[in-house]
Amino acid sequence: MIRNNLEDGKTILELGSGSVTSELCKYYKVYSIEHDVKYVGKYPGSTYIHAPLIGDWYDPAILKRELTFDYDFLFIDGPPTYARRIHMLEHLDLFKSVPMLADNCKVNHRPDTASIISDYYQLSLEFFKSSDWQGYKHFYALMLPKK
Ligand SMILES: C[S@@+](CC[C@H](N)C(=O)[O-])C[C@H]1O[C@@H](n2cnc3c(N)ncnc32)[C@H](O)[C@@H]1O
Repeated sequence: MIRNNLEDGKTILELGSGSVTSELCKYYKVYSIEHDVKYVGKYPGSTYIHAPLIGDWYDPAILKRELTFDYDFLFIDGPPTYARRIHMLEHLDLFKSVPMLADNCKVNHRPDTASIISDYYQLSLEFFKSSDWQGYKHFYALMLPKK
């Protein structure tokens, strides 16, 4: 999905690093915000920003200090668990209005974070159904500049 919406050589900021990080690094400059020191540097190629969790979300003081560079795309895939991830809503001022992909963002019994995020950044919103490696259904939200 990112490959279809972002030219090679552009810069991605991702929340949460994982195996997809290595894939992205083949085509893009990647910065990964990672809370767990165990995974900092695990996927070579990315520039890691270690931001431990304070409560349920990344330490906002670290993000504010570190996010001084330009990026073209935001991939929201951390911190792990839906319950934590919704706390991005309290820190929207930390991020730029760029195209975004949010994983695991719409599950019926949880607040619809993606629509709040897309409203805040004035982006259009489209959901795509997916399923993870265990077969659990979830949704990706793709947020792009409005036409
Ligand atoms: C939900 S994962 C997804 C990260 C990435 N965007 C991807 O799709 O590969 C995010 C979190 O899982 C943890 N993680 C990273 N690699 C892992 C691994 N191999 N096994 C278990 N957890 C991992 C890290 O703490 C990371 O912040």
